[in-house]
Amino acid sequence: MLLKDRVAVITGAGSGIGQGIALRFAHEGAKLALVDIRPAALEETASKVKDSGADFETYTGDVSITADVESFFSQTVERFGRVDICVNNAGIGNPPMPLMSMTDEGFDQTIAVNLRGVFLCMRAAAQRMVAQGGGGRIISVSSQAGKTGYPMLGPYCATKAGVILLTQTMGKELGPQKITVNCVCPGTIDTPLLRGTLDPILQATGETFEKWALKNMPTIPLGRVGYPADVAKVITFLASDEADYMTGQAINITGGQEMH
Ligand SMILES: NC(=O)c1ccc[n+]([C@@H]2O[C@H](COP(=O)([O-])OP(=O)(O)OC[C@H]3O[C@@H](n4cnc5c(N)ncnc54)[C@H](O)[C@@H]3O)[C@@H](O)[C@H]2O)c1
Repeated sequence: MLLKDRVAVITGAGSGIGQGIALRFAHEGAKLALVDIRPAALEETASKVKDSGADFETYTGDVSITADVESFFSQTVERFGRVDICVNNAGIGNPPMPLMSMTDEGFDQTIAVNLRGVFLCMRAAAQRMVAQGGGGRIISVSSQAGKTGYPMLGPYCATKAGVILLTQTMGKELGPQKITVNCVCPGTIDTPLLRGTLDPILQATGETFEKWALKNMPTIPLGRVGYPADVAKVITFLASDEADYMTGQAINITGGQEMH
């Protein structure tokens, strides 16, 4: 077991990639604080994690609200005694439209969840890890859209690029405390978020998700879309002792679609 008895906070654990991380961490022996803004989604993940016998707690909260973040981190420390791993996974897409038509609300909401939310959780985790005497893992979910701009996804791309730079900065700041800070940059991962983002495009073209995926396959050298488990295994590695000489990195998980 790679994460035996490590205490891990996972945000956005109710769905998609976050649920995949929760299930993999449970399998690796971690104790889990599962966070999401949607209680019903958390319930679904909880029912799956229960089967693994892992020790876990669920917390409903919004990562963009400081009081919520402080509350779920404090409750985690009360319940489990410490925080060893923080996975900043919660995120949203922006309303798909070109930047010249983007609304203020669409821009601000994306920044609030995807960038401010990651900052608030990074800060809360780092303060507790330093107070514990150092050591720890902070891992955020950026995106290949944080390395290359994509039409209709301006605010999303900007937040994900921001996450990479927060990661580099905090990695440099916390190295002396033996806290590593890394992020992953997934590509096309089959989750409710991806399907929701594609919905307007699929409705306009009349294509099914499967047809769209096949059309996009040639741009993925490994020839398939990714799944939450593909992301979870890399995050498990980063959270483990195997990655103790890595910090400030932004690792692509794209089947080769993004290579820098
Ligand atoms: N699916 C992809 O292709 C893909 C690719 C690259 C990066 N990502 C990133 O991976 C992460 C997870 O995405 P996913 O595809 O699994 O999406 P998802 O919509 O399936 O899951 C995201 C979860 O985050 C929760 N959430 C949203 N806003 C929140 C908030 N303010 N506070 C707390 N929880 C909140 C949602 O309720 C949901 O359960 C996101 O950061 C996303 O940007 C996804």
